[in-house]
Amino acid sequence: MARFTDKVALVTGAGSGLGRATATRLASDGAQVAVLDLNEGAAKETAAAIESDGGSARAYAADVSDWASVDSVVTSAASDLGRPQLLVNCAGVGAFVRSEEETFESWSRIIGVNLTGTFLMCRGVLPHMLDGGGVIVNVASNAGLMGQPYSAAYCASKGGVVNLTRALGVEYRARGVRVNAIAPGGMNTPMIQTWGFPEGAKPEDFAAITSPIGYAEPEEQAGLISFIASDEGRYMVGQIVSMDGGITCG
Ligand SMILES: NC(=O)c1ccc[n+]([C@@H]2O[C@H](COP(=O)([O-])OP(=O)(O)OC[C@H]3O[C@@H](n4cnc5c(N)ncnc54)[C@H](O)[C@@H]3O)[C@@H](O)[C@H]2O)c1
Repeated sequence: MARFTDKVALVTGAGSGLGRATATRLASDGAQVAVLDLNEGAAKETAAAIESDGGSARAYAADVSDWASVDSVVTSAASDLGRPQLLVNCAGVGAFVRSEEETFESWSRIIGVNLTGTFLMCRGVLPHMLDGGGVIVNVASNAGLMGQPYSAAYCASKGGVVNLTRALGVEYRARGVRVNAIAPGGMNTPMIQTWGFPEGAKPEDFAAITSPIGYAEPEEQAGLISFIASDEGRYMVGQIVSMDGGITCG
């Protein structure tokens, strides 16, 4: 039997990159997947691709940084597909900017999507998961475990996801809900292609945050997420699992 047969999985940011790869992987592992994204068209594309491969998926438009949107999409997905048992928080945004030039809007958006959005989705599914068990996998980043230049908001948001994950891991470990996070390094996704380093930035700054073995494919990180979310990861609680080409190892 496949890992996630008869399980309902919610994946945010599933219209692109890691979220799309994760939705596809969980569906191929037997889950019924709710494909959530701010970009409804992209969510529909992911769901259609999964269905055409014989998997089960349904697209939903959702803004994870908005309480009402989260509440509404979790309620709809639970009513359409059944009790959410898996949640993977992939939605994320960022930008490289000199901190002295950061704007309130950009700072608030990055914290709002990456940190508050991750919490709101956890908050939304927890009542369902407490009624029979569940697993949450958050997506942090190597940027949540180290300082990176030109990324103060992003580093702060991902550092927040790291300790949010530990806090929820401890709070719910004896109540049937496991919460963990992955911390990817550079991944070959649309996100990385849109971040230009600020003009005049030193090449060594970029080298310091890039593994000498290059980027991972999102499917590799999706495989790690699938393992953590499965029963094989039963004893993993509150962990931040790095797969980053060694960027944070020394
Ligand atoms: N790409 C990398 O190198 C890298 C490295 C480490 C961590 N990450 C993290 O991995 C996750 C996935 O990133 P990716 O590389 O696949 O990026 P991506 O840009 O390809 O995909 C992100 C998705 O999130 C969606 N999204 C943005 N704001 C949203 C919101 N408010 N509500 C719902 N959906 C929203 C976007 O529409 C998009 O489909 C992010 O959390 C990112 O921070 C990425």
